[in-house]
Amino acid sequence: MCGIVGYVGDKDAYPILINGLRRLEYRGYDSAGVALVHGGSLHVHKCKGKVSDLEAHMEGQERSGSTGIGHTRWATHGPPNDVNAHPHQSSSGDLALIHNGIIENYAAIKEELTHRGHTFLSDTDTEVLVHLIDDVKRTEEVDLPEAVRLALDSVVGAYAIAVVDRNSPDMIVAARKSSPLVIGIGADGEHFLASDATPIVEHTKNVVYLEDGEIAVMEKGSTLKIRNIKNQEKTPFIQELEMHLEALEKGGYDHFMLKEIHEQPRSIRDSMRGRLNLAKGEVVLGGIKDYEQRFVNARRILIVGCGTSWHAGLVGEYLLEDLARISVEVEYASEFRYRDPIIDENDIVIAISQSGETADTLAAIELAKGKGATIIGICNVVGSSIARVTHAGSYTHAGPEIGVASTKAFTAQVTVLTLMSLMIGHKKGTISGSHFYRLLNELESIPDKVEKVLKNEAQIKYIADIYRSASNALYLGRGSSFPVALEGALKLKEISYVHAEGYPAAEMKHGPIALIDEEMPVFVIATKGASYEKVVSNIQEVKARKGKIIAIVTEGDKAVKELADHVIEIPETVDQFVPLLSVVPLQLISYHIAVMLNRNVDQPRNLAKSVTVE
Ligand code: M6R
Repeated sequence: MCGIVGYVGDKDAYPILINGLRRLEYRGYDSAGVALVHGGSLHVHKCKGKVSDLEAHMEGQERSGSTGIGHTRWATHGPPNDVNAHPHQSSSGDLALIHNGIIENYAAIKEELTHRGHTFLSDTDTEVLVHLIDDVKRTEEVDLPEAVRLALDSVVGAYAIAVVDRNSPDMIVAARKSSPLVIGIGADGEHFLASDATPIVEHTKNVVYLEDGEIAVMEKGSTLKIRNIKNQEKTPFIQELEMHLEALEKGGYDHFMLKEIHEQPRSIRDSMRGRLNLAKGEVVLGGIKDYEQRFVNARRILIVGCGTSWHAGLVGEYLLEDLARISVEVEYASEFRYRDPIIDENDIVIAISQSGETADTLAAIELAKGKGATIIGICNVVGSSIARVTHAGSYTHAGPEIGVASTKAFTAQVTVLTLMSLMIGHKKGTISGSHFYRLLNELESIPDKVEKVLKNEAQIKYIADIYRSASNALYLGRGSSFPVALEGALKLKEISYVHAEGYPAAEMKHGPIALIDEEMPVFVIATKGASYEKVVSNIQEVKARKGKIIAIVTEGDKAVKELADHVIEIPETVDQFVPLLSVVPLQLISYHIAVMLNRNVDQPRNLAKSVTVE
């Protein structure tokens, strides 16, 4: 939530900042702003709305300066308006600051600074930081980096910040605690700064991921200097980015979401590459190899995540229980962290997160880690906070996911959970040799089958058109299709703003059936498999109440075809892998309904891609 960019070097900072903000806009789009230092002057420009609104606002404004910072906001404290937009300035006008995170003790700091004569203009928690740093700088008579360090010592909360000072025109000071920050090392002593690597990759591949409690000094012409909050010097660890620029562009698609849906054959394949070895008949997950035996011995696994990642965790529950015969509990990270869960050193906790920055998931990890559990991460963003705090893990290799609605991340997470379950089941002997081999073969064919599902897009769009005006929708499934029903409903809600509910199909008769009438579209996952007959009965119950059935069925199905208003066929696969196929038509339905309703598909209202606040 909130995107931060910065540049210091010889070039014009403004275009670099604006491009960077466009890349980070998925993190929040309530307001945007920049601060540029030019000579001894500091110019702050900001406004409510998107980065394009900021660009319009900048027409005719002073844009000079080769040092600058920029921000795109997802509002927490104070409504989205011009005043609450970042950067915020100190009363002296010397400093400007941007922030991602939440300052928990801002009220106490604000009160203290108000007594000391500081005047606050905004409703934000952030503004206290810039006043505090300015106050410390003056009273302690220290330079900017030291003022930032001393000030942060009294701050409680999460932050990634960047500060510029008109008296130090060639310098940006940045710091992080629980919110991400990446520094790019460019040529000739230029430095880039961002919440993630996407704005940096087009300038340099050399990056340093700032650690919690570190303060970085980026000065034109100098090497990067890092100290921690205790004033100990740190040696920057420079890594090479593996990201490619094309992955950050729409590549001819109208929206990132559509591109990402269509990327799934590739992203599922990439999540399996080098891990599933048919020739040797084995699954190797290098990142968790040292923990294999621990998995084999585990009596229980806990899975934590939020939103779509939680849904992937629910699919993982079915997979791990079925294939590896380990008892699994799946928890919303946000609930788990505020209970006093019974966990000990025998437990394994799998934390799932696309961004690797979700605050609730991070807090759940810290809690479980504190109780001695082994923490395994399934993350998409390399080098993200969750990837770094877990003991071990497997990346999903889905590539950057820019659309706020998670699509390819879900199928990549399910793919990794499938591989994990197969690996453990095989080691444990809960899957017989021949069955294991058949499953590996089948899994390898899944990307081609997803490709086939995507070919039905025209039919799916036609169905979307019929139900575009529905104001409610129900999604039903049994077994591992229940989490897919939840995921389908979430997709519709978040990008179309249409109310939708996912239910286990058999639970419908315990309440939701009262909602069914001729206006209600009911999406049912009714593929061939263990609960097929039961789902057919549930479909009959809906039909008897005149509900409209849109069923996801296995190719060649006859029984459901006779009952349903529409069927969308997916290729046949084993029960365990159905979610990887059945979710795709539901993603496409939501996408097309949202487009037909003229919604902002990639940046739905009130949301942000990476939820770094609790
Ligand atoms: O980055 P994470 O996977 O931790 O994010 C979790 C949720 O915020 C995320 O899945 C959210 O629900 C998506 N918008 C769903 O499409």
